[in-house]
Amino acid sequence: MQHVAVSNGMIGVLAQGKGTPILFVHGFPLTHAMWNKQVDAFSRRYRVIAPDLPGFGESHVTGSTMSMEAIADDMHALLHAVFVDQPIVFCGLSMGGYVAWQFFRKYRAQLKALVLCDTKAAADTPEAAAGRLKLAEDILARGSQVALEAMLPRLLSANTAQEHPEIVADVRSMILRTSPASMASALRGLADRPDCTELLGQIDVPTLVLCGQDDQITPAAEMKHMAQAIRGAQFVEVPSAGHLSPLENPDVVNSAIQGFLKTVS
Ligand code: MLT
Repeated sequence: MQHVAVSNGMIGVLAQGKGTPILFVHGFPLTHAMWNKQVDAFSRRYRVIAPDLPGFGESHVTGSTMSMEAIADDMHALLHAVFVDQPIVFCGLSMGGYVAWQFFRKYRAQLKALVLCDTKAAADTPEAAAGRLKLAEDILARGSQVALEAMLPRLLSANTAQEHPEIVADVRSMILRTSPASMASALRGLADRPDCTELLGQIDVPTLVLCGQDDQITPAAEMKHMAQAIRGAQFVEVPSAGHLSPLENPDVVNSAIQGFLKTVS
């Protein structure tokens, strides 16, 4: 890992390989390590950049609300800091996808293609946003264990939970190493994020949409509908996977990304 300064503080980033750059942006409340299987596979032929978002992993916590736009700004600054000024493939999962909308909106010239995993364009309903703010307060009062209890059962498919204790252990450890202040800051940013549904019709880069078949947070039917609103987007449903499809079924996810990249690079 190297550490680079951006306007919101210090970001830890894994950058390796040569070729077309792929930026892997993780979900909440995880770290770059959720992409380990993609980093291994793609850094043989591509320049892979996998940061810890502000407040996660080796990146420092920032203000009390981390907006998706501020993260997109940090990603743009980070790319420059690791000497990537050409167009990138932006691959984001869930919160990483929410950041992708903001990156498209502000930095379209630096975007070659999008890979959107287990994410959505819609904003939170008022009830969902209120639930996130309440969760932020609970986590601040009682610790990161609260996030583990609230989220773990919804992140992974039943198959992963039963057959892959090593994946469950990795996800637990990513969640538990995140500080309550970082979680609260991200939850406030998630609750406050804008609706990006209108943006879908404007997307003019090649796009691949992936979704775990058993995703409870961003269900496959909703993602398929979202993909249909993006001109020419490909949609792939990933079997034996929940919300964390790249971690739960890396073989299917990697081969879908590999096939897609052949059509864009
Ligand atoms: C994520 O994986 O980033 C979160 O599930 C996002 C969300 O809760 O909307």
